[in-house]
Amino acid sequence: MTGGPEAASLAAAGPNRLARMAERVLVTGGAGFIGSHTCVELLAAGWDVTVIDDLSNSSPEALRRVEELAGRSLRFVEGDVLDEAALERAFGDGGCAAVIHFAAKKAVGESCVDPLGYYRTNVAGTISLLRAMRRHDVRRLVFSSSATVYGDPGPGACPLAESAPLRPSNPYGQTKLCVERMLRDLAASEEDWRILSLRYFNPAGAHPSGRIGEDPRGLPENLLPGAMQAAVGRLPELRVFGTDYPTRDGTAIRDYLHVVDVATGHLRALDRLPAVNGCSEYNLGTGRGVTVFEVLEAVKRASGREIPAVLEGRRQGDATEVWADPSLAGRDLDWTAERGLDDICADAWRWQKANPEGYGS
Ligand code: UD1
Repeated sequence: MTGGPEAASLAAAGPNRLARMAERVLVTGGAGFIGSHTCVELLAAGWDVTVIDDLSNSSPEALRRVEELAGRSLRFVEGDVLDEAALERAFGDGGCAAVIHFAAKKAVGESCVDPLGYYRTNVAGTISLLRAMRRHDVRRLVFSSSATVYGDPGPGACPLAESAPLRPSNPYGQTKLCVERMLRDLAASEEDWRILSLRYFNPAGAHPSGRIGEDPRGLPENLLPGAMQAAVGRLPELRVFGTDYPTRDGTAIRDYLHVVDVATGHLRALDRLPAVNGCSEYNLGTGRGVTVFEVLEAVKRASGREIPAVLEGRRQGDATEVWADPSLAGRDLDWTAERGLDDICADAWRWQKANPEGYGS
């Protein structure tokens, strides 16, 4: 998991890939769910990749499988973005053209119990990274933001454009908005920063190989991993939170997008960075809203199994409806989500069935 690209395979890949040979991207949190899928696509596109990850919510096995899928190695530095020495090691070999910053905490419930831990990792961690970038004269960044910055948009507000009101409803969401604003201030204060923040709606699914996927520690908080674990028998049942929403079947509506589409969104953003003036934000979503029951039907189709479900009251803080207007990313980044709900469920099921205990299987 060390060393540079395999020059022989690159040479065979043709001139476009050779043109990329000098370009290295640093990926923070690259062993995580979205990070690992993005690393596969980066390596396949000819980027050299350094990952810095503290493995607090991820597994080194994910990185081994990334290399296996891409047929290339990456450089791995185990460490926290708050640790200056670890960042120095990550930037150490020079030649880094840009950074993709995923490393963060992301559990809404936990953020309400431990807000300082969230501000420390997500906000102070980003400050630490930006200072290291400046030391190494790297000023191109793609930041992992979230549709959580919109909070509960209320009735009739969807699809949500980037100009929609920003009012996160929990500390996790506040940390994402805080970083977005900090990045804007930084780009306004110094020339040469080129920054894109990507607001993901609901990333889900897995790599179509079934080799890498989502591996939540403890009980899954999100719908797709919960439904998959119920389908495979790892969880006794899925709890459906709220059946009295004013929607077509009473359950809440979200915009689920395939994690490989999220990954390709980062490649498009990297390609776009040289032309970016300062800092901008883009939605990554499909533009289609789907209910919880519709997701469960799709999981049933993909798995061929009944999903044991219990109907419960609403989960505190959940919105009725959150889905994207992704047209700005279509126009400026030349990106649209290519995969639908059935692809998400088929790929997530392939991963779940082959790895019922995740990377610990
Ligand atoms: C959640 C986070 C959001 C984060 C996103 C990451 C909240 C309030 N928001 O969004 O900040 O960016 O995950 O993907 O937690 N559901 C069930 N049963 C379950 C789990 C979920 O019925 O076991 C329902 C939820 O009530 C919701 C829908 O499924 O209506 C989607 O839930 P989830 O996957 O947790 O995503 P979000 O709540 O949209």
